[in-house]
Amino acid sequence: MIVFHVNNETQTLKLGQVIGQNLIPGMVICLKGDLGAGKTTLTRGIVKGSGIGSHVTSPTFTIINEYEGKYKLYHIDTYRIESPDEMIDLGVENYLPAGDGVTVVEWPELIEDLLPEDRLTLTIVSYGFHERKIIVQVHGKNPSYEKLLQELKNHDSIGD
Ligand SMILES: Nc1ncnc2c1ncn2[C@@H]1O[C@H](COP(=O)(O)OP(=O)(O)OP(=O)(O)O)[C@@H](O)[C@H]1O
Ligand SMILES: [Mg+2]
Repeated sequence: MIVFHVNNETQTLKLGQVIGQNLIPGMVICLKGDLGAGKTTLTRGIVKGSGIGSHVTSPTFTIINEYEGKYKLYHIDTYRIESPDEMIDLGVENYLPAGDGVTVVEWPELIEDLLPEDRLTLTIVSYGFHERKIIVQVHGKNPSYEKLLQELKNHDSIGD
C-alpha cells in the first residue's frame, strides 16, 4: 500500500499520468471515492500517461467510454447502472479484465462481484477543497501490480 497526499488537481493528474505510463493490457484499475473526489480527474491523467491524446469525458450516462492508443483503454462508470441485467447487456464482465486493453472503473463497489481478483484500487478521500488522500492498494497476486506499486514509490514526492 502507498498513500499520496495531494494538494491540487494538477498533482492528481500527475499521479494518474505516472500510473498510465506503467500500465500493461489486461490491468484493471478501480477508483473509489465520493462524488467529486477526483476519479475522472485521475482517469484523465491515466489516459494522458497511456499516450492517448483524447479528451476524457465522464461516462456517467454512457457507462463505458473507449479510447485507443498503443492499447485500448476502457473507462467505466457504474454509478448509473440500475440492474444486473444492464451490466450483462453492456457486457461489462468482458472488460474485467479486457483482453486487449486496460480498464479503469469508477464506483467499483457497485459491481464488486464482477471484479477480478487481480486489480489495483485507488481510494480518494477529500479532506479540504483541494486536498486529497489517495490510497493505492494491490489486490491479488499478479506481480505486475506489485511492480507498478514499486514504481509509484519512486514518485512519492508528487504531493510535495
Ligand atoms: N486535488 C484534487 N484532485 C482532483 N480533483 C480536484 C482536486 N482539487 C479539486 N478538485 C476538483 O474536484 C473535482 C473532481 O471531479 P471529478 O469529476 O474528477 O470527480 P469524480 O470523483 O469523478 O466524481 P463523480 O463521482 O461525480 O464521477 C473537479 O472539479 C476538480 O477540479
Ligand atoms: Mg467521475
